[in-house]
Amino acid sequence: MSKILVIYHTLSGNTEAAAEYIAQGAREIADEVEVKLAKEADAEDLRSCGAIAVGTPDYFSYMAGMVKDFFDRTYYPTQGQVAGKPCVIFVTHGGGGRAKDSIQSICDSFEFDVLTGPVMIKNSPEGENVVSLKDAGRKLARACDEN
Ligand SMILES: Cc1cc2nc3c(=O)[nH]c(=O)nc-3n(C[C@H](O)[C@H](O)[C@H](O)COP(=O)(O)O)c2cc1C
Repeated sequence: MSKILVIYHTLSGNTEAAAEYIAQGAREIADEVEVKLAKEADAEDLRSCGAIAVGTPDYFSYMAGMVKDFFDRTYYPTQGQVAGKPCVIFVTHGGGGRAKDSIQSICDSFEFDVLTGPVMIKNSPEGENVVSLKDAGRKLARACDEN
């Protein structure tokens, strides 16, 4: 099975915690799961992964600038090479969460195979959110295996 990539941005740690739960779920099935800050990820990371999870905080009803920057930097260099990659989106927010619309739209532009609706987490992941994040990670790993 090829690598599962989990990319995210965080300022206060909520989205990082969510990313780690996605990775925990994925690691139950996949051998290789890499968790990376969006600002440190590049086109080769995206090309070489078998599936991707993208996480962002909601900042002003939009995805974090660093996540948008990742997509901006990788769009042309990966065009035609990443369509159909299984994808999971997760968003942490303070009660709004409209950032999900912008990230879904970008994932459509990359033609990822978005497996479920975005996992939405109010602030720090706890309880049911942890279950949903781990489930999403497992689902991503299974889809990667089948791809
Ligand atoms: C600059 C800034 C803007 C924010 N704007 C929104 C917003 O529009 N809607 C919302 O629901 N939460 C908003 N929040 C709250 C964050 O989305 C929320 O606390 C999130 O979990 C932070 O994730 P992080 O700890 O990974 O940085 C904002 C937070 C910051 C710092």
